[in-house]
Amino acid sequence: MALLGVLWFGLDALARDELGAPLLVGLLLACLGSFEALSVIVRSVAKLGAAAAAADRLLALATAPASIQDPAVPVAFKPGRLFLENVRFGHDPDHPVLDGLSLDVPVGHRVAIVGPSGAGKSTLAELVLRLRDPQGGRVLIGATDLHTVRQEDLHRHVALLGQSAPVFIGTIRSNLLIARPDADDAALWQALDDAQLGDVVRSLPDGLDTAMGEAGHSLSTGQARRLCLARTLLSPAGILVFDEPTSGLDRATERAFLADLARATQGRTVLLITHAELPDGTADAIWRLRDGKLVPQRASMPATAVSARLSTMST
Ligand SMILES: Nc1ncnc2c1ncn2[C@@H]1O[C@H](COP(=O)(O)OP(=O)(O)O)[C@@H](O)[C@H]1O
Ligand SMILES: [Mg+2]
Repeated sequence: MALLGVLWFGLDALARDELGAPLLVGLLLACLGSFEALSVIVRSVAKLGAAAAAADRLLALATAPASIQDPAVPVAFKPGRLFLENVRFGHDPDHPVLDGLSLDVPVGHRVAIVGPSGAGKSTLAELVLRLRDPQGGRVLIGATDLHTVRQEDLHRHVALLGQSAPVFIGTIRSNLLIARPDADDAALWQALDDAQLGDVVRSLPDGLDTAMGEAGHSLSTGQARRLCLARTLLSPAGILVFDEPTSGLDRATERAFLADLARATQGRTVLLITHAELPDGTADAIWRLRDGKLVPQRASMPATAVSARLSTMST
């Protein structure tokens, strides 16, 4: 309509010699050019409703009371063995998912937890990170009950690589620094090399500063998982919890990933929740979650070797 209007009045003015032909053409082009700017505004207005709804949800999350509270007088965190004692937890307290569950993981020990979908494996991980509090029993690290320490202190000592850990929009560097904001480049490369992603990143023109996400470089599923693994390895935490770290990977990639994970986490306490068949040496013990409790699956290392390894570590 704007274009037609300019034509209508312009041609009329041209006929009456009030307007020159070049000026009329200029007006028409200016009119067309303005559409480019206007269309962005029109599109933005169309998205306004969706953006407002998203903002409402974010606001609701940001202002919701925290389900987990820091203690009024927190005790200092002392690292040590991970110990769950007779833990009970149910999302519906009348139907506990975990019921009388006990687990003792010595420092530097790697324990795998297997079990069918819905058995409560992720719930167990959430209790170890104190994203939820047990409804019965205790979760301890060393001699410290998790509810007596500040969450911030706890999460410096326990890190999680979750089932759906994302690669965030940003750079490789910004994705890694989430785990340890003060890490220097050497530490970032070490984490990437440990996760067997160093060579891939070195081959990118912008290296650590390569943009990730919608507009940036895209990684394969396996590489994205390795970036998340590198992020977890970079964390200073002595206890690492992996919840289905290989979901979505094919068999061969999964095996390689688990072998690299085992190598890269030497000396740290690991809780590895997985459906995958474990390569030998990945775990010191394997437990199956059944009816809310852990039952031994098998040890991939003889008990004597485990205690020998533990005594070398304590010396
Ligand atoms: N946030 C939640 N609210 C209610 N029920 C949940 C929630 N998370 C998990 N559950 C239920 O708890 C049970 C255990 O879930 P989960 O710990 O995720 O099992 P797994 O990781 O072994 O597949 C399932 O029955 C699941 O439906
Ligand atoms: Mg799960």
